[in-house]
Amino acid sequence: MDFSAKMLRDDALKGKTIVVTGGGSGLGKAMTKYFLELGANVAITSRDLDKLQKTAEELTTETGGTCLALQCDVRHYDQVESMLAEVLKAFGKVDVLLNNAAGNFISPTERLSANAFDTIIDIVLKGSKNCTLAFGKHWIDKKQESSVVLNIVTTYAWTGSGYVVPSATAKAGVLAMTRSLAVEWAKYGIRMNAIAPGPFPTKGAWERLLPGDLASKFDMTKKVPLRRVGNHQELANLAAYLVSDFSGYINGEVVTIDGGEWLQGAGEFNMLEQIPQEMWDMLEAMIKNKGSK
Ligand code: HXC
Ligand code: NAP
Repeated sequence: MDFSAKMLRDDALKGKTIVVTGGGSGLGKAMTKYFLELGANVAITSRDLDKLQKTAEELTTETGGTCLALQCDVRHYDQVESMLAEVLKAFGKVDVLLNNAAGNFISPTERLSANAFDTIIDIVLKGSKNCTLAFGKHWIDKKQESSVVLNIVTTYAWTGSGYVVPSATAKAGVLAMTRSLAVEWAKYGIRMNAIAPGPFPTKGAWERLLPGDLASKFDMTKKVPLRRVGNHQELANLAAYLVSDFSGYINGEVVTIDGGEWLQGAGEFNMLEQIPQEMWDMLEAMIKNKGSK
C-alpha cells in the first residue's frame, strides 16, 4: 500500500489562506507542503526565521505555491498580533489557523524546575490560546463567514502519560479549549477541531523523546497494532480534509491517527495478543472444562 498517496482533489484549498505555527519543520512542514500543493497560500511561523525562510523557499520551489515565513514566538500575545497583521497585509484575509507549534522532552517530573514545566505549558497551551484568541477576535470582528482552527494534540491528552507530564497537561487543556469553543464560536462560523497523532517520526520529537539509543530500545512500531509508524502524508491528508470545506459539518471533533496505538495500551486483555494461535485450543478446553463442573 502507498501511504504517501495524496487524497484530496486538485485545488481543494484554492483561495484559502492558512497559518501554520511551527511550520518550518517536521509535521508542520509536511502539512504546509500539501496545503500549498492544493492551492492555498500558507504563512509558516516559529521562533527561527532562518529555518522558516529556508523551508518557505524550498516549498515554493517544489510546489509553485506562495509560502510566507514570519517570525513569531507563540508565547507572546503581542508577537501573535503582529504576525496576524503581517498575514493580513500579505494576503488580505486569513481562513485557517493550525496550532501545531509545540515543545516537549522526557523527564521524571520531580526533576523538572518550575521554569521547565512552565516552558512547555507556555508553548503548547498558552501559545495555542494566544493564537486562537487573536484569530478568533479578528474573525468575529470582521464577521467572516467561515473559518477554521485545527489543533494538533496527542492521544495522551485524554489518557495522560508519565514522563511527559507538562506536555500531557498542556495538550489536555488544548483539547478542552477545542471542544469548548467549537460550541461557543460556532455562531460566528468558526469550526474548531483537533488531530491526535500517534508516532510520526520527526527530528524534533525523536531527539527529545527518544534520545540516544532509546529509539532502538523502545521500538515504537511494537506499540502500534498496525505495526508501523505514521507516514507524514497520511497526517497531511487528514489535516487538509479538516481545514477544507469538505469537512464543513465536523466541529468539536478530535480525530485520532495512531494505527490503534492508544487502544492497544488501554484494552484490559490486549496483552493476550502474545498468546500463540496453537495455545488457544488448550485454553478453550481448560475454560470449557471448568464451566461444566
Ligand atoms: C529537564 C529541561 C530539559 C530536559 C530543557 N529543560 N530541557 N529540563 N530535562 N531535557 C529546562 C531548562 O533547564 C530550563 O529550565 C527550561 O527547561 C527551559 O529551557 P530552555 O532551553 O531555556 O527553553 P527554550 O530555549 O525556550 O526551548 C524550549 C524547549 C526546547 C522545549 C526546552 O526543547 C525546544 O525548543 N523545543 C521545540 C521543539 C520540540 O520540543 N519538538 C518536539 C515536539 S514533539 P531552567 O530552570 O534551567 O531555566 C511532541 C510529540 C508529542 O510534542 C507526542 C509524541 C507521541
Ligand atoms: P517539531 O518539528 O519539533 O515541531 C515543533 C515546532 O514548534 C517547531 O517547528 C518549532 O520551531 C515550533 N516551536 C517551538 N516553540 C515555539 C514557540 N515558542 N513559538 C513558535 N513556534 C515554536 O516536532 P513535530 O514532531 O513536527 O511536532 C509537531 C506537532 O505534532 C506538535 O504539536 C507535536 O506535539 C505534535 N505531535 C507530534 C507527534 C510525533 O510523533 N511527531 C505525535 C503527536 C503529536 P522553532 O524551533 O523554529 O520555534
